[in-house]
Amino acid sequence: MALQPSFSRLLLLKLFRFGFICSLIQLSDSDPGSFSKECPRNKSTLHNFTSQFTMVQHQLRGVLTVLDDCSFKVSSFDMLPGSDVKWWGAIGLDFDNLTNGFVVSDQKLNQTLYKNDSFVVHLMDNVTWDLMETISVWDVPTASNFGYVILRSNVTDGEEHMLPPPMAENTTLNSSYNASLGLRKPTMFENCKVLSDKYRVRWTLREEDDVIDIGLEAEIGIQEYMAFGWANPNASEQFMLGSDVVITGFKESGMPFAEDYFITKYSECIKNSDGSVSGVCPDRLYGGSDSSSSANNSRLVYGHRKDGISFIRFRRWLTAVDNKFDTPVDANESMSVIWATGLIKPPDSIRPFYLPQFHGNTYGHLTLNVSERIDECLGPLDAEDKEDQDLVIADKKEALIISAGPALHYPNPPNPSKVLYINKKEAPVLRVERGVPVKFSIQAGHDVALYVTSDTLGGNATLRNTSETIYFGGPEAEGVPASPTELEWVPDRNTPDLVYYHSLYTPKMGWKVQVVDGGLPDMYNNSVLLDDQQVTFFWTLSKDTISIAARGEKKSGYLAIGFGREMLNSYAYVGWFDESGKGRVSTYWIDGRDASSIHPTHENLTYVRCKSENGIITLEFTRPLNPSCKRDEKPECNNIIDPTTPLKIIWAMGAKWSEDHLSESNMHSVTSSRPIRVMLIHGSSEAEEDLRPVLAVHGFMMFLSWGLLLPGGILSARYLKHVKGDKWFQLHVYLQYSGLAIIFLGFLFAVAELQGFLFSSLHVKFGYLAILLGVTQPVNAYFRPKKSASGEEMSSKRLLWEYTHIIVGRCSIIVGVAALITGMKHLGEKYDSKDVHGLTYALISWIVFGIFTVIYLEYRERKRRREIVFAKSSWVLGDGEDEDIDLLSPSRMASQMASHSSERMEVQLEPVSR
Ligand SMILES: *[C@@H]1O[C@H](CO)[C@@H](O)[C@H](O)[C@H]1NC(C)=O
Ligand SMILES: *[C@@H]1O[C@H](CO)[C@@H](O)[C@H](O)[C@H]1NC(C)=O
Ligand SMILES: *[C@@H]1O[C@H](CO)[C@@H](O)[C@H](O)[C@H]1NC(C)=O
Ligand SMILES: *[C@@H]1O[C@H](CO)[C@@H](O)[C@H](O)[C@H]1NC(C)=O
Ligand SMILES: *[C@@H]1O[C@H](CO)[C@@H](O)[C@H](O)[C@H]1NC(C)=O
Ligand SMILES: *[C@@H]1O[C@H](CO)[C@@H](O)[C@H](O)[C@H]1NC(C)=O
Ligand SMILES: *[C@@H]1O[C@H](CO)[C@@H](O)[C@H](O)[C@H]1NC(C)=O
Repeated sequence: MALQPSFSRLLLLKLFRFGFICSLIQLSDSDPGSFSKECPRNKSTLHNFTSQFTMVQHQLRGVLTVLDDCSFKVSSFDMLPGSDVKWWGAIGLDFDNLTNGFVVSDQKLNQTLYKNDSFVVHLMDNVTWDLMETISVWDVPTASNFGYVILRSNVTDGEEHMLPPPMAENTTLNSSYNASLGLRKPTMFENCKVLSDKYRVRWTLREEDDVIDIGLEAEIGIQEYMAFGWANPNASEQFMLGSDVVITGFKESGMPFAEDYFITKYSECIKNSDGSVSGVCPDRLYGGSDSSSSANNSRLVYGHRKDGISFIRFRRWLTAVDNKFDTPVDANESMSVIWATGLIKPPDSIRPFYLPQFHGNTYGHLTLNVSERIDECLGPLDAEDKEDQDLVIADKKEALIISAGPALHYPNPPNPSKVLYINKKEAPVLRVERGVPVKFSIQAGHDVALYVTSDTLGGNATLRNTSETIYFGGPEAEGVPASPTELEWVPDRNTPDLVYYHSLYTPKMGWKVQVVDGGLPDMYNNSVLLDDQQVTFFWTLSKDTISIAARGEKKSGYLAIGFGREMLNSYAYVGWFDESGKGRVSTYWIDGRDASSIHPTHENLTYVRCKSENGIITLEFTRPLNPSCKRDEKPECNNIIDPTTPLKIIWAMGAKWSEDHLSESNMHSVTSSRPIRVMLIHGSSEAEEDLRPVLAVHGFMMFLSWGLLLPGGILSARYLKHVKGDKWFQLHVYLQYSGLAIIFLGFLFAVAELQGFLFSSLHVKFGYLAILLGVTQPVNAYFRPKKSASGEEMSSKRLLWEYTHIIVGRCSIIVGVAALITGMKHLGEKYDSKDVHGLTYALISWIVFGIFTVIYLEYRERKRRREIVFAKSSWVLGDGEDEDIDLLSPSRMASQMASHSSERMEVQLEPVSR
């Protein structure tokens, strides 16, 4: 026992030491950037190799220098951030070789934004320079090449936009300049000056060649121009007049241009009546047909549009200019330069040149000495809108033509040489609306199968060991122009906001699909307006789940819908917004009328959304019809939706909801005044109304007949025979006929309401039976045998008829009253309203009152008869004034009926007076 503590202490100590050693090992092991680490290899031919990066995307600029066999240095590094950016080695710059590349360093480029940064990168232990021909900056999730360096000069440069330096043929540049171009990348310059937040000029001066290379870089739209030039040296104000500017931009084809302009007037270029031109006109127009002296003296070198930034490099002579429309630049003097950006109008037949439009506020001037070293530009331009791709909006009517074509400006290089086109636009952004069908006419060839996927790259993610969700398409979605395949895709409410269209066989052929919310009516199969027309309820049923949306039709801070007859004992779904403005949907069980009886529940909701547009709240969720937990476990386990029975829905809106600390202030300000019963299967609804007029009329008529007229008729036959004459008989007949007439009308009302004959409910069965019995009465009254003459023995036929008539009459009343009661019960089930209970009590009171009346009348009748017996001291059968009492007693209760029917019967009815 004494050993135990010391032993455990020892163990602890050992463990501690072991752990310490482990962490030491880990520390030294996991630090690839440690400079103390020796580089074991030292025989590479690449030592001191230096190259600038070729920009591909993300405004990447910088210089790479190989330090030794296992490290390189990066300096003046600019880059917009990516998602998971690594150093990447490959043996070629083509799509296949690049995508089959490998990570070469543990160091990541995860910094948010690189601004003129310098650092050393160490290669991984198993990576040598021999393994790769190029090194690039690679975003792994999107397989994007941001920029690269070719390590050996014999690897061809894959840059498509690089144009050969288009100098005039008879000029011979200093050969060293051209030679150095191989290592100089068109996006790299020696100097950079900020013209405005969104506009920079970069330049490299080669005074010995009389040449200056100018790069214009601006965050502008693709349809805008960038202008830069030298002002008239003699001007002290109005610098634009007489200035020599170069207008650059992109043609509709996406190709860059740079052209010399001369400004004679602050206006668009106008042709005067004498044939001369004035305004902002290209140099070549001023000279007319004699173009040698006034040609375009600037030469486009390179241009691209990336990340929402236009970049164009051109070259001009410093002094070897025409002097007429070009300003000679003295490299060693400060001179006024002017700049502007603005919209540009493409050439048309009247004015076959690019026509810069008014620049608005985006212009300026400054003094510049091009031989001074200036680098004011820190970090890349960062455009707000980096998406330059064409947008195709899916239209309901026309099918989208899916074809394949050459990749010219694919947005996410590297890419295969062939990419997808939609409606002849190269890899556009496709915008679709949830719930609105999109038709595709697929004719991209048999080697391309269209599909819409969650995967950024496409080309069957399974083959790359990643998972993807496929929303549409597959191997069958292929076709050729001669026989296109037409398919339809309906993005539904569960389609994410961003998916991708791609080919199933080759990655990176397609681009993004923006999925925007269609109208809720498009996304859901059914909708009803809830009570007071202030909330619309949408739903789509599937096998085990139901997708639900609710939209408040007026501004509010939260929207709640509940399943139940009233707030008390309901399951509520509340759409609201937390402090950060994020839409939430919370579920509750409410078992009381104050804030403390709102109990949060944990329902299994998916695809939850809650958003507010101009204060109109929309909440959406999908839930299982039957919560998969044991009943009684938690209140929400009882929240079962049975699509075959009506769902009672209520709603509430208010100013503010919160996760916890619900108080009275969270209580609703407006709510539904009554629940709506929604038939989920039929897509219909009905308000839980007070009573529907037609049914109310039906009920009233039936009550009038079965509760008043028909029993009254029977009572008159039973108790009024002692009144002289056949008044009782007339009353009997009138009452019964009008009762039957009203029954017939009431029956028609019920049929109209139910739209057909239904035998399902007890009420309807009783009703039919009662009507059948009721209708037989006048029929059998018509066939009744003649009454025997007064005082004679009644014929047996007549006796039988009288029994039949009386029994059938009483039975019909019993059945009719049963129909009244079941009708009330039915109404109660259907409307569940307090009015029905009141009506039922009233009916029962009426019946009880009727029974007591009958008992009283019966008592009086017997008394009267006893007096007659006393008076006559004998029974007189067949006497017109003496009637059998028992048979005609009204039959509200079976017991009463039974007790009466057991008595002896003597029947005598007066003939019908015709
Ligand atoms: C690389 O440059 C350094 C200094 O500039 C020089 O000492 C070294 O010899 C060079 N190495 C090679 C292989 O040229
Ligand atoms: C990959 O690069 C190597 C060497 O540059 C080249 O021979 C090969 O053709 C490239 N592969 C493809 C598919 O172009
Ligand atoms: C970049 O990642 C490394 C390791 O992955 C981490 O040490 C470093 O802090 C990260 N830098 C930034 C700016 O996130
Ligand atoms: C180098 O080793 C890492 C694992 O340490 C591996 O992931 C990587 O693929 C290897 N690279 C090469 C080029 O073999
Ligand atoms: C490129 O040059 C290296 C030597 O610098 C040579 O070994 C290699 O074969 C060349 N590759 C090609 C494709 O010419
Ligand atoms: C180019 O050649 C033209 C005639 O062919 C000549 O007039 C012009 O001066 C030359 N330009 C240069 C820079 O030598
Ligand atoms: C992707 O490739 C795997 C393996 O070849 C195949 O099983 C799967 O069906 C493919 N996916 C599609 C959508 O064709």
